[in-house]
Amino acid sequence: MLNDSQLKPATGLQLDAIPDYCVWDGSIVRTKMLAMIWSLVGDKEVNILDVGCGEARMWRPILENIPNISLYGFDPSPSSVLLAEKELDGMKANIRHGDVIRLETMFPEAAEFDLIVSHSVLEHVVPREVYFGAVSKRLKNNGVALISWGSDHFRQGVRTDIRNVISRILAKLGIEQYYAAEVDELWAKDQISKAGLDINLLHYYSLVELKKLFRLAKGVSRRKIFQDWICVEEEFNCTAQGDSRLMTSMDETFTILTKK
Ligand SMILES: C[S@@+](CC[C@H](N)C(=O)[O-])C[C@H]1O[C@@H](n2cnc3c(N)ncnc32)[C@H](O)[C@@H]1O
Repeated sequence: MLNDSQLKPATGLQLDAIPDYCVWDGSIVRTKMLAMIWSLVGDKEVNILDVGCGEARMWRPILENIPNISLYGFDPSPSSVLLAEKELDGMKANIRHGDVIRLETMFPEAAEFDLIVSHSVLEHVVPREVYFGAVSKRLKNNGVALISWGSDHFRQGVRTDIRNVISRILAKLGIEQYYAAEVDELWAKDQISKAGLDINLLHYYSLVELKKLFRLAKGVSRRKIFQDWICVEEEFNCTAQGDSRLMTSMDETFTILTKK
């Protein structure tokens, strides 16, 4: 398990205390992931796996600034893989086409990973039962997994509700790339435990209305509002822990896992 000081970028994030390349303007979860990576890696040689890397948009700044990171990422979307390769051209990054179902045999050159990151992927995985077990198998003992999943696709009104229903029918027919279904929290906790992983933190972020309002923030106020927004949501996570109303108001769940 991580100690309080190791968890600080996730529990008491101060934007002024982290490098600018870890600040992802407007995304609390991405900023926390990058800040955790920066603080855990230090000057150690580490390998990081990004499960469902998409276009790998969050990596270039951190790889440019922390050359002791070797990144491995994969995604089932061929077009995203091409864009990710282009994005990380010249960096210490290996990007492949692949699915979490086949993670066990992917990247044979790196048996286990120090850190595993997966942002907004779990809600799209079919079948989702494989996910935490696959992550656990490739995580080193005492390694850390930074994982988030989203709920925003399920609260945008009738059009997205219809799209989600169709995506599930398509997945049954073998067309999985549009799949999105809400992640049940009790199910996730059970799967995490069965996979032999410990939950160090499980928080909810990105209050839907604040996320929309943040678009109005400009100039120097923008950074201050972002910091205040982070503090407010951290405080809610402390005070309303276990209250399902917090979970249902927020767009993202962020969990930090370690391997027993
Ligand atoms: C919302 S995108 C997030 C992409 C990226 N992680 C990011 O934060 O920018 C969801 C990603 O999950 C990927 N995905 C869906 N099913 C997957 C699976 N079975 N294994 C790995 N990745 C998957 C999709 O291809 C897509 O790139």
